[in-house]
Parts: sequence; C-alpha cells; structure tokens
Amino acid sequence: MNSAAETPVNAQELAEIAAEIARSVGVQIRAIRAEGVEVADTKSSSADVVTYADRLAESLTQEALLARRPHDGVVGEEGAQVSGTSGITWVVDPIDGTVNYLYGLPFYGVSIAATVADGAPGTMEDGRRAIAGAVYLPVFDELFTAWDGGGSYVNGESLTGPATKPLDVALLATGFGYTRERRTEQAHVIQQVLPLVRDIRRMGSAAADLCMLAAGRLDAYFERGLKPWDYAAAVLIARESGVQVLGLEGAAPGESMLIAAAPNTASELHAAVQTAYNSLEAE
Ligand code: IPD
Ligand code: CA
Repeated sequence: MNSAAETPVNAQELAEIAAEIARSVGVQIRAIRAEGVEVADTKSSSADVVTYADRLAESLTQEALLARRPHDGVVGEEGAQVSGTSGITWVVDPIDGTVNYLYGLPFYGVSIAATVADGAPGTMEDGRRAIAGAVYLPVFDELFTAWDGGGSYVNGESLTGPATKPLDVALLATGFGYTRERRTEQAHVIQQVLPLVRDIRRMGSAAADLCMLAAGRLDAYFERGLKPWDYAAAVLIARESGVQVLGLEGAAPGESMLIAAAPNTASELHAAVQTAYNSLEAE
C-alpha cells in the first residue's frame, strides 16, 4: 500500500502533477469553449449553472489523478468523491468561473490541490490544508503553482504577493454567492466596505482572484460562502507568495469567511468586514 507513512510525500512532485493536469484539462476546456457552450443543469439557484464542460473536465481530472496516484482520494465540485488510503485528497474545481466560461469572459480556470488533514498550521475550516496545488487560466495561458514551503510561481516565475497598503488605497476583489439570501447579506456588507477602499473588482473566479493577489495585481480579497474546491489550491498559492489568509475573529478561514491580503492590509480589511457583519446583525 502506498501509505503516507511508507512513502514520504514530496509536495513539489504533487505540485508538478497538479500543474500538468490543470494545464492539459484547461487547454481542452478552452478548445471546447471555442466550439460553443451548453448548460447541463442548475445547482443552488437558477444563476448557479453547470456546463457539460465542467463535468467533462472533472472526470478527465479525476482519471488523470488516479492514473498517477491510485491510492489518493479525489473530491470535486461536480460530485467526484473517491476516498483514498494515502492520506492525500485532491480537491478539484474543474472550472472555477463557470459563469464567465458560459459568457466567454476570460477569468476561468482549472484548480487542483493536494490536501492533507494533519491539523498543522494553515488548516482551513473544512479541516484540510493544501500542500501542493495549481490553477491554470487557459485564456491567459497562466499556470500558477505552489507547494508547502516551496514558494509560488506563475509560469515558473516566483510570486511575491502584493505590497502592504492602507485599506483606502487597496484594490479589493470579492465575490458573491448564488442565493438571494446570501447576496442580500453580501450587498449590505459591500455597501459598508466599498467607501473604505480604492475600488472593487468582481472577477467571477475566486481561484483567479487569489492568484491575482499572489501576483500583486490586486491588494486584497474577501468572500463568504466559498467551498473548498474554490479556494484549496489558490489559498496555498497566495500564502506561499506572502499573503495572509484570515477567517473572522481568529476562526479558521474557509466557507464562513476568507480574507486575504498582505499582513497589515489583511488586519485592516478584517476590521472593516467584521464591523460590516456586526452592523448587519444589529439590524
Ligand atoms: C464561483 C466563483 C465565484 C465566487 C463564487 C464561486 P464557480 O465558483 O469562484 O468567483 O464568487 O462564490 O462559487 O461556481 O464558478 O465554480
Ligand atoms: Ca468554483
């Protein structure tokens, strides 16, 4: 058996596997997009779509991962659920930014992370942390990679994250969930936060947002409601570039809240987001 105890895990090798598969699947979904796109189903609301390409990309990714690492688990946004025996579970978003993909907008990509549940620092709210990951944005031909302690890269070039900036000159990205209730709450919060920052960007892919942050093309990011496949690889890429990732009030970051920025900017953003949520509760 290929257990973690018998075979020491080489996180850099896992990042190379993630990168190779993310690129190959990403190139395929871009080619499929050029032929047109078809909605296969809706999920949490009518706004939350899944295309045939999402499903195909997930099955190609799962197949490629298990061909290379047959003892690992795989969890994916479109339903992949394979339990492994190695202690490593791959967390896959076959297309992060599906609505962009549907409309022909460029911010979409494949996100693949190798995660462990060892409780070490960096463990997210879902109980896992990525030790290696890749996000490939096919329209930009940009491959973001990282592994635990190894730094993060775009097309092989080292990333150093955004500079620390006061919040009022920080370019902030965020995202919104798909349900009315979540969006009503998010509209209230963004109303409080928008006056405090340089400007807001809503790119439509959480994985891309966090990679842009790692590349210093944004200064800060926050979102509530992300799933592990949205953030698993990209949080590692951001962290390895020097970005601090926080939850609210000392909680582990994850679905309930994910705030990311250079350390001092992250504290300022945390205070602003917390104040906005407190005022919502007080209403
Ligand atoms: C979504 C994107 C979006 C974020 C949503 C996610 P999907 O993922 O990452 O930017 O705001 O919370 O659900 O549906 O495109 O895979
Ligand atoms: Ca996603």
